[in-house]
Amino acid sequence: MKEKYEIIKKIKKLKKDHKAIILAHVYQIGDVQDIADYTGDSLGLSRKAAKTDADVIVFCGVKFMAETAHLLSPTKTVLLPDKNADCGLADMATVKELVTWKKKYPNAAVVSYVNSLAAIKAESNICCTSANAIDVVNSCPQDTILFLPDKNLGSYVAEHTDKNVVLWKGFCYVHEKIQPKQLKKLKKAHPTAEIIVHPECTPRVRHMSNFIGSTSQMLRYVTQADQQEFIVGTEDNFVYRLQKDNPEKIFYPVGSSCIGMNRINLEKIKLALEQSKYEIYFPKDIQSRAKKALDKMLRIK
Ligand code: 13P
Ligand code: SF4
Repeated sequence: MKEKYEIIKKIKKLKKDHKAIILAHVYQIGDVQDIADYTGDSLGLSRKAAKTDADVIVFCGVKFMAETAHLLSPTKTVLLPDKNADCGLADMATVKELVTWKKKYPNAAVVSYVNSLAAIKAESNICCTSANAIDVVNSCPQDTILFLPDKNLGSYVAEHTDKNVVLWKGFCYVHEKIQPKQLKKLKKAHPTAEIIVHPECTPRVRHMSNFIGSTSQMLRYVTQADQQEFIVGTEDNFVYRLQKDNPEKIFYPVGSSCIGMNRINLEKIKLALEQSKYEIYFPKDIQSRAKKALDKMLRIK
């Protein structure tokens, strides 16, 4: 406990010395969420990164999120405290395959989920997050949308738009792992609990839920609901944030965790600030093209 207190004290001092800000995704462990200046979903974090006047952004999340922060704030130093904090979904699309896909649909718009490599964003018309994916797709003048890399979020969007949405075959292992039978079991044990899930879940799971939304949308839903108990179909650490904001309510996690998100801890944040690591870089060409797709997304709403 004393050791933890010392690390927190050190991080606070380093933050001041380096004019740094700590941004953390809501899938981070509780200790990391508690030390952050701002916690949120991918969209909220992107907006924060684009606006900050700090010199250094310590990004506690997975690599694509730190990359997004750097793309939006190219003059800032962006540090990812663990260089192996990867998102399995982001690695499921390659530029070579995307270029071939685009040739098959020359009149389509490419919408890439932010959970993708910067080079994929650079080949896209516009990016989206799970919070704005439907609005982004509807904002495209084209009738056909090539949506990548997540087939589950893509199918969720397809259910809510008149556009012809063509899906890439990627998925998130954390959400794909959540099965209807697990939810049924939890529901049997807690019959008055509502099921809330992330749109990265499979259609079968989504269709048995009471609410589908990005992490920020789930948080808002839970906070405003009269309901007292919730089965939470997404990364388990999110329950920490739900509970913190809603101490009187009860949450049941489904038992699914993201390896990349769980790599970051207080010690690594301290080291990141002390040793300026691991800094995110891009070739100029990718930086400017990927930024265009992200800026376009941020102009929506
Ligand atoms: P949110 O943007 O809803 O926070 O989701 C990010 C993510 O990685 C989901 O797996
Ligand atoms: Fe990527 Fe899935 Fe982890 Fe989200 S939960 S960061 S999509 S691997």
